[in-house]
Parts: sequence; C-alpha cells; structure tokens
Amino acid sequence: MKISVIGIGKVGSTISFVLAKGGLASELVLYNRTREIAHAEAIDIQQAVALTPYRLVVRDGELEDTANSDIIVIAVSAPMPKNMRNRNELCLQNTQIMQTLIPPLARYSPNAIFVNVSNPVDALTYQILQIARQQSEEINWQRVIGTGTLIDSARFRDLLSTQLGIHPADINAYILGEHGDSQFAALSSATSGGALIDANPLRQQMVEKAKQSAWTIFKAKGYTNYTVSLAMEMIVRSIVEDSRYTLPVTVLIDGYCDVFNCCLSVPCVVGRQGVHYRLETRLNEAEVSAFQNCARVVQQQIQCVNL
Ligand code: LAC
Repeated sequence: MKISVIGIGKVGSTISFVLAKGGLASELVLYNRTREIAHAEAIDIQQAVALTPYRLVVRDGELEDTANSDIIVIAVSAPMPKNMRNRNELCLQNTQIMQTLIPPLARYSPNAIFVNVSNPVDALTYQILQIARQQSEEINWQRVIGTGTLIDSARFRDLLSTQLGIHPADINAYILGEHGDSQFAALSSATSGGALIDANPLRQQMVEKAKQSAWTIFKAKGYTNYTVSLAMEMIVRSIVEDSRYTLPVTVLIDGYCDVFNCCLSVPCVVGRQGVHYRLETRLNEAEVSAFQNCARVVQQQIQCVNL
C-alpha cells in the first residue's frame, strides 16, 4: 500500500504521522514545494516508526516519486490569511495550485484514490475530480473524496455526547452539505440505539457550537490539525481495509435532493474502491432546502474561479 501526501504543512505532517502510526501503508511519500521540510518530516516520522510494530518506508520526493500510489492525500494549501473567517477565501489560490499539481499526480497514479482536505474542501474536491478525470478514465467520482463534514460531524457528536451522556460512536447524527457556513444537521433522522434524538433547541445550539469551534481553534492556533487528521485516518483505513464505514464525506452529488454536478457531503460507504455507495438520508423539508442552499453556495465558489 503506497500512500503519498501532497503538502507537508501543519495538516499534511500531522496526517503523515497519524497514517504511519496507524500502520496503514508500506510506503509513505511526502511531497512539499520546499523539499527540505518534506525531508525533515520524513526522517522524523521514519524514526518514530521504529517504536511501532510496523514496517514502513517513509521518504520525501518529487511528484514522479508518487508514481503508482494507491491513495493520494491532498493537503496542500496557500497560506491562510491571518483573519480568515471563511474557508472560501482560499478558493482561487488553492484551485490554481490544484491546476498545477493534479495533472501530473493523476498521470503518475492513474488508479489512485484521491482524498482531499484542502479548503474550501467541497469546491476543491470538485475541481480535483474534473482535472484528474481528464488524465485518467479510472479516476471517476468514486475515487475523489473530500474529508467534508466528517470533521463537523465528529465535533457535533462530541458535543451531543456530553449533552446526552452517550458515547459519540453510538450517536448516528450527521452534519451534511458544505464543510462551511451553510452546513446543517440532519436532525430529523438522528438516532441513538434506534431512538430518535429529538430536535429540541439545545440540539440546534450544539450545531452552531460545532460549526464555530473550528474558528475558536483557528483564532488561537492559526490552523486545525487533529480532528482533520483522524478524519483522514478513518477514511484511509476504510479504503485500505475495505471496512465499508459509513462516513459523511465530500463526493460528487448526482440527483440527491435535485442537486446535480456539485460536491457536498452525504453519508458514503467507503471501501477499497473509494465511495461504494452514496446513501440517501431521509431529510425533512427544511433540511432538503438547507442541502440545496449548500449546493448554491458551493456552485458559486466553483463558478467564481472558472470566470
Ligand atoms: C477544520 C478545517 C480542516 O474545520 O477546515 O478543522
């Protein structure tokens, strides 16, 4: 299992470490514009692997060294503006970065599954899919995934867990749509142990709190890295081990809630082929409108950079 991580900043380096510690690859290639950084991180992680039960080769490299990767993690990003208040602020610059990097990556690894964390994750996942499939017919919608609202759902379940006194893993509650301001909770179908988690006002407060928490972290640290890295690990593990977890991740939407040709998060069954199924969560009227609103927001982001 060869995994390449593109962009070794705060997020890319934490993801690389988490993937190494999880024993998910036999070869890990780190690519960064400044090679020295990738080199240093590769040595640091390789030496850490000596303290794990796994055999893993970690190395830095150029784009050609990513050839024949099974999974390509996209974590490259333009620097985040200091007072960033919306992930969309990175859209133009990060799309330009994808236009440069994705063609060679897809040519070198025509069978890879791409998992993107770069923001705005939905619009960029869409761009990556469009660019990659021009290079390789194998890279279809199932093979281009974004971490999407898996991160927001984890935050929401963590808060609900405290409120309900139930382990987060036993709470089937999804944040869906955009990994951004228009995201919403599919509360009408949220359950635990088969019981509905009713939509009382306290739950709605948790939705807002979960959404805001990224900015609380960002304001003080300048980036977020842990939740996103474990979200990535979960997606990669589900692919590598073909575990078929149902994860709310960014995927191409084709008809759900009358949304077409846009990337947003819905619960997806993830396995060796990437996304095996997109599940159609039953939504009430307000939630359907919220999903359609997410599509409008993300389609605008996509169109802005295409002008
Ligand atoms: C976050 C970043 C990854 O929400 O968008 O943590």
